[in-house]
Amino acid sequence: PLVSMRQLLDHAAEHSYGLPAFNVNNLEQVQAIMEAAAECDSPVIMQASAGARKYAGEAFLRHLIDAAVEAYPNIPIVMHQDHGQSPAICMGAIRSGFSSVMMDGSLMEDGKTPSSYEYNVAVTREVVKFSHAIGVSVEGELGCLGSLETGQAGEEDGVGAEGTLDHSQMLTDPDQAADFVKQTDCDALAIAIGTSHGAYKFSRKPTGDILAIERIKQIHARIPNTHLVMHGSSSVPQELLEIIRQYGGDMKETYGVPVEEIVQGIKYGVRKINIDTDIRLAMTGAVRKFLVENPSKFDPREFNKPAREAAKLVCRARFEAFGCAGMA
Ligand code: G3H
Ligand code: 13P
Ligand code: ZN
Repeated sequence: PLVSMRQLLDHAAEHSYGLPAFNVNNLEQVQAIMEAAAECDSPVIMQASAGARKYAGEAFLRHLIDAAVEAYPNIPIVMHQDHGQSPAICMGAIRSGFSSVMMDGSLMEDGKTPSSYEYNVAVTREVVKFSHAIGVSVEGELGCLGSLETGQAGEEDGVGAEGTLDHSQMLTDPDQAADFVKQTDCDALAIAIGTSHGAYKFSRKPTGDILAIERIKQIHARIPNTHLVMHGSSSVPQELLEIIRQYGGDMKETYGVPVEEIVQGIKYGVRKINIDTDIRLAMTGAVRKFLVENPSKFDPREFNKPAREAAKLVCRARFEAFGCAGMA
């Protein structure tokens, strides 16, 4: 059934696990996530970004997720809007049937310029007001995603601030987080701890100075009842990069958020872990490999099948590592 985010995250908190929230753009990704969830009996969060809505259209995304709800009646599924840039966008998503929305007020409506704290509180509070009235959950964000390594905000292939941020904007302040939750009453809070969207997060395996897991602990100590959300949480597995390179792709050296660091975060109140890039890497590697090995094939079903299978393996590994297997 379609459920609210709040229901799932409350259950996750009660049983001390975390839920991967996978970004979806097409049929094969939805199927991969659902097959993985069915195999390990896990609840599911699927989310659509602004880029996904632009690529597939809101109606197609909604119907794909609705199809998953119909095909897997025993698995609780959240249909979440990722990074809503304004109350109007969140309202539109709710009208079209989403059971959860993110109001990302850490940035202005352009999705690039860091906003003031007052602006963030005002827009998030507004979205909570109309969402809670009809049982829809709301995720807010405090702090800007960005690299503590370079001071660079945002990234090339997703939503994010542009230019440079100072260190304090890239680490959510625990006291401000407490005030934010009190003023907005949001159900979940995305925090900034040095991660960024996309494949190029870190130039080396991250250590505490560039991936601030310690900060999660401090925030959780201030707001123990708030579900925390980690964005930019792809692990960018080296073996997936290797497959892409081996079959003609060009990917520079890069590192993501290690699964074991996410597992630490889950111990300190992280309940939702956003993952998009890892599925992209898995599918791209599989498609490249298939087409190189089968140069005469041209039926998309034939290369989409191994892509779907590769995505499924990533999803299953995350469900298992984050403790959601058996929780559906
Ligand atoms: O929010 C970040 C996700 O990775 C979505 O990226 O805007 O390219 O769909 P996208
Ligand atoms: P990744 O790019 O690390 O997969 O992050 C996705 C994300 O945070 C979507 O909101
Ligand atoms: Zn994000």
